[in-house]
Amino acid sequence: MNTGVNDLRRAYLEFFESKDHLCLNSFSLVPQNDNSLLLINAGMAPLKPYFTGQEIPPRRRVTTCQKCVRTGDIDNVGKTARHLTFFEMLGNFSFGDYFKHEAIAWSWEFLTKVLELDPNRLYPSIYGEDEEAFEIWTKEVGVAPERITRFYRDPETGECDNFWEHGAGPCGPCSEIYYDRGEKYGCGKPDCKVGCDCDRYMEVWNNVFTQFNGDGHGGYEELAQKNIDTGMGLERLAVVMQDVDSVFDIDTMKAIRDKICEMSGKKYQVDALDDVSIRLITDHIRSSTFLVSDGVTPSNEGRGYVLRRLIRRAAKHGRALGIDGLFMAKLSETVIIECKDGYPELWEKREFIFKTLTAEEEQFNKTIDKGLEILAKMEEELKASGKSLRHLELRSFQVRTHSSFTILTDSL
Ligand code: SER
Repeated sequence: MNTGVNDLRRAYLEFFESKDHLCLNSFSLVPQNDNSLLLINAGMAPLKPYFTGQEIPPRRRVTTCQKCVRTGDIDNVGKTARHLTFFEMLGNFSFGDYFKHEAIAWSWEFLTKVLELDPNRLYPSIYGEDEEAFEIWTKEVGVAPERITRFYRDPETGECDNFWEHGAGPCGPCSEIYYDRGEKYGCGKPDCKVGCDCDRYMEVWNNVFTQFNGDGHGGYEELAQKNIDTGMGLERLAVVMQDVDSVFDIDTMKAIRDKICEMSGKKYQVDALDDVSIRLITDHIRSSTFLVSDGVTPSNEGRGYVLRRLIRRAAKHGRALGIDGLFMAKLSETVIIECKDGYPELWEKREFIFKTLTAEEEQFNKTIDKGLEILAKMEEELKASGKSLRHLELRSFQVRTHSSFTILTDSL
């Protein structure tokens, strides 16, 4: 089968349509009637009222590919193989309809029959003593018991990888599926196994058995109806299917990465610091483009500030790469071309996206240029008195293309 991001998205949605799911368009990144979230960060987030029974869903089986933004790990973006602020999450959902049996069976069927992944490379995990999930995996799907990993709550923190919750709302125990990408992606440690932090065992699928409503402070109430919330990161799935090193190497991301290289005259994988900048811009231009298309505009608070920070960080790294002049709008054109298959609204709103990105980038550049002037003047004055910028104790800043520039922008 074709393993392009757009092909994988379509294959997933069609598979669940064939299982009687209603395919809905992605919801906006801006949460509606939900004060507990700044931005939509999971496929289930816009569907919360259907899980709690507050609202009646258009059908009790729904499938989506949801735009998501998570900025909690923003400082890792560009430095690792898999951190992104923007990603797409595939999901199939049951609102009081099917439960564990079907959810587990279909996740296995899609991975092994439609995508034809080798079952010997797939490893399920379950929540602590979820014997029901264990029985389904071993007796119904036929996975050998020793291939199943149990994740328990940390007795001290109470946290558990296999219990899904984000803020207040519907939540529950999970059963994930990991794919063994082979030793070449591993850390080589003798105890490397499912759950290891390295890139060998990659979590591709998360089945959440949404049966509680959490108050966000550790209190849970059993929900009247049992639900299913599944999530599969599309970019991660593409990494597995395309057998590439990182999310920045999959087809749609590589197109953006290549454009940045073309604009800057840099080559990927020549200089480690340049690579961080290239990857960071690849990610941030995606989140910025999608946020603007959903009506977010740069400001000094809330989601507007998240966007401002993303644009400014990308602009800063663009300068560090030596890109001359404004580049964000031009680069977002590549994002739009790559993603309009799944998100036609990007194409419709392209002029607004270009205008918003350019205005913010221009304002940022003006601020920086003004700052640089002031610093240059200070530098001159210091020099005249026999001192240098070092005397301002700014040595700890990482110096790249222009020391003063880095000093001005390092806090972004
Ligand atoms: N909510 C779960 C997740 O985000 C599954 O969709 O992983």
